[in-house]
Amino acid sequence: MLDAIDNENCVECQAGTTGAARRRPHAGWAVAALLAALALQACGGGGGSSSASVDSPQETAPPESNEWRWDLPTGFSEPVVPADNPMSAAKVQLGRSLFHDVRLSGNGTQSCASCHAQESAFTDNRALARGSTGEVHPRNAQPLANVAWNTTLTWANPNERTLEHQMLTPLFGTNPVELGVNDGNRAEVLERLASDASYPRLFKSAFPAQDDPVNWDNIIKAIAAFERTLISADSRYDRSAAGQESLTEQEARGMRLFFGDQAKCSQCHGSPNFNDQFSTAAHLQTAPAFHNTGLFNMNGTGGYPEPNRGVFEITGIAQDMGAFRAASLRNIELTAPYMHDGSIGTLQAVLDFYADGGRNVGNGLYAGDGRLNPYKDPRISQISLSDQDKADLLAFLKTLTDTGFVTNPAFAAPDAD
Ligand code: HEC
Ligand code: HEC
Repeated sequence: MLDAIDNENCVECQAGTTGAARRRPHAGWAVAALLAALALQACGGGGGSSSASVDSPQETAPPESNEWRWDLPTGFSEPVVPADNPMSAAKVQLGRSLFHDVRLSGNGTQSCASCHAQESAFTDNRALARGSTGEVHPRNAQPLANVAWNTTLTWANPNERTLEHQMLTPLFGTNPVELGVNDGNRAEVLERLASDASYPRLFKSAFPAQDDPVNWDNIIKAIAAFERTLISADSRYDRSAAGQESLTEQEARGMRLFFGDQAKCSQCHGSPNFNDQFSTAAHLQTAPAFHNTGLFNMNGTGGYPEPNRGVFEITGIAQDMGAFRAASLRNIELTAPYMHDGSIGTLQAVLDFYADGGRNVGNGLYAGDGRLNPYKDPRISQISLSDQDKADLLAFLKTLTDTGFVTNPAFAAPDAD
């Protein structure tokens, strides 16, 4: 049914293509919002058909506890949901408890929320994440807003496609240890949950057909269902797009810059989630993009420090050196420090970095002029920003903060009971 789509207004369709074809219009949000609405009709019509598991909304009957009804903001049609893990309210409730529960780590000290804290838009505000046994992760913990729409997961892995599969890494990974669940404590962790006052009931209502539902498969499914509910689209920017609020003149100037050809930000951060990897159930991106932004250039040969060489770590292909997923910029004010290795401390410094066309690492182990990295996306050199432009862009980026998202009780740890 979607074969006929070649609508250049379709954000979701454009995002997988390259160069000029991916550009969004830059005539301000009024136009962009209209186009997003068109894009929804074009791409999202008949949405959800590839995901048989999602119930279609019924206006008349109130949903039962295990039915699911998406309440989606403009620009977001239904996300991909694996057929074997349909959404349900009971699963989301269970997943929310587990996400925040330190008993899920081997030594009982850390939960998902330790590195993905709601008040920080589900990041940890550290340059590099730290696991339950103190091991330092080579990368910066990512925010989880609208994570259900990401085409690929983590900073630079074209093969990481589902929240369920991604979760094996923080739960069971050993390089580095994050939650530190292993063969020695796996049964003990389950026993902690099975002997709890409320978990057996929560598992039973999330997986009613199973006799013995407290198991790892169900833990993963429930947390993934919770993650799919982490929707952030009520920032000042969104409200101004909906005509409910006005941006200041400076913010509006920053917005025009952001979506314009001079700053080029929206060429990689132009989807409804302000990145360029955006898939929906109705429209799956087939060729998600990764970019080298010129952070490093070790020995002048384009090198990035191991094990942070981007997609190259997976493919070994030279062109993939330093190629990372463009990060979502929603709530960006709350998620410092920045970049895959947390190596840029402030938004102002990120804007200086783009204005310079990359980073010159003057000395030390990683010395080299990233501005000359041979694998750098050529558009980074073409960005030109005056001090005034940077101030305007900074003001705009701060309109992407969604205070309702970071304070919504539905995403917080449930009260201990
Ligand atoms: C020790 C800190 C830490 C813990 C604990 C942790 N994470 Fe993460 N998380 C990270 C880091 C670091 C990344 C980026 C990984 C990479 O790029 O390789 C990440 C990435 C992710 C992503 C990908 C986001 C995106 O935009 O692609 C998801 C989803 C995620 N984590 C979910 C979870 C869940 C669910 C748990 C609990 C089961 C969890 N994490 C526990 C640090 C952590
Ligand atoms: C060619 C694609 C591209 C363009 C153009 C681009 N970015 Fe990025 N952006 C990226 C990628 C890729 C990353 C992650 C890089 C990394 O960590 O190695 C990123 C990271 C960021 C981050 C840090 C996000 C985080 O969570 O750590 C911010 C902020 C940002 N970009 C803002 C902007 C702004 C503002 C502009 C316009 C001036 C812009 N970007 C233009 C691709 C791009």
